Amino acid sequence: MFRVTRRYRFAASHRLHSALLSEDQNREAYGKCNNPFGHGHDYVLDVSARGPADAAGRAVDRAALDGLVERQVIRVFDHRNLNVEVEGFTRAVPTSENLAVEICRRLKAGWGEVFPGEWPKLDGVRIAETPRNIFEVGANEIE
Ligand code: NI
Repeated sequence: MFRVTRRYRFAASHRLHSALLSEDQNREAYGKCNNPFGHGHDYVLDVSARGPADAAGRAVDRAALDGLVERQVIRVFDHRNLNVEVEGFTRAVPTSENLAVEICRRLKAGWGEVFPGEWPKLDGVRIAETPRNIFEVGANEIE
């Protein structure tokens, strides 16, 4: 059994601001990420899948995975303002935690069509907002 990780990149802007918090609470919770005019990140996304190697010695069809990530994630997030252009974030705050969950949810939703067999399975996603801030979520941890 192998765990295979493939890396992707996209750029997006966001503002961290919750309607449930006061202005002061927002500043305290999000610091400079609460700046009203937003800011951008060059996100690095790692998508991991696991499965046994097939007869060709490959555990994951990379072209199939690339197509799925392109359709379900890159096309939706790249060069977007997450707060206003991505449906999942018109209400949820686009923190990297929530972004990881949303990406994983989107990949799970499209997975079966691209990989209809028992393997490979989506293992999880890891997103780096900056080199120091890295967020992971396992596919089994979200519905
Ligand atoms: Ni930010």
